[in-house]
Amino acid sequence: MTYTIALLNQKGGVGKTTLAVHLAAGLTRRGGRVLLLDADSQGSALDWAAAREGDPLFSVIGLPKPTLHRELPSLGASFDAVVIDGPPRVNDVARSAILAADLVLIPVQPSPYDAWASSEIVELLRESSVYKADQRAAFVVNRRIVNTAIGRDVADALADYQLPVLAASLCQRVAFAESAAQGKTVFETQPDGPAHREVEALTDEVLGLAA
Ligand SMILES: Nc1ncnc2c1ncn2[C@@H]1O[C@H](COP(=O)(O)OP(=O)(O)OP(=O)(O)O)[C@@H](O)[C@H]1O
Ligand SMILES: [Mg+2]
Repeated sequence: MTYTIALLNQKGGVGKTTLAVHLAAGLTRRGGRVLLLDADSQGSALDWAAAREGDPLFSVIGLPKPTLHRELPSLGASFDAVVIDGPPRVNDVARSAILAADLVLIPVQPSPYDAWASSEIVELLRESSVYKADQRAAFVVNRRIVNTAIGRDVADALADYQLPVLAASLCQRVAFAESAAQGKTVFETQPDGPAHREVEALTDEVLGLAA
């Protein structure tokens, strides 16, 4: 059965594409057949794939359409996992991605403003939980400052939503931006680096939720 993970937050620039690409790479390294579905009309995940020289790591297709939840069962049938890179807005494509997802991950930067700005996507999830009773959702912190914990202010702001926050997080690291420019991931550009270990931990946690 195909497990579908959607990276969603209507706030722009929080790391949806960075996390989607790296999670897709992490799952591929564990032997999964992975499809990265670009549901953002900006086409950033497609741009990432196009910047790449050499063999693709996994399949990438663009489908920024409100019908994606209906097309996914046949599109994703030959994959173990589908990772959806969501659009930076609350629209019918985001709704469709929620309907398609077994797990919704909401990237947030560790600032109370970012936590508050997630309210729209959380509200949308709440509305659709009626249709997807066994769906899971969680925040994932991106751009944590190295050697700092998430501040109490951010933790409190996120706790108000009554959604879990993943234990794994990604720190602010140039390796993430640099690898993206070449259509690569930190697995290739920093094989022994800390960014690599963060993505491994994220992959482990997601696999644990999927089990
Ligand atoms: N952990 C990180 N460390 C350093 N740079 C990062 C990190 N995460 C994301 N970035 C950079 O921040 C920018 C925005 O990230 P990204 O494109 O993943 O966000 P997004 O939520 O997909 O944005 P959009 O809403 O426009 O789709 C990119 O230039 C990316 O390389
Ligand atoms: Mg994006």
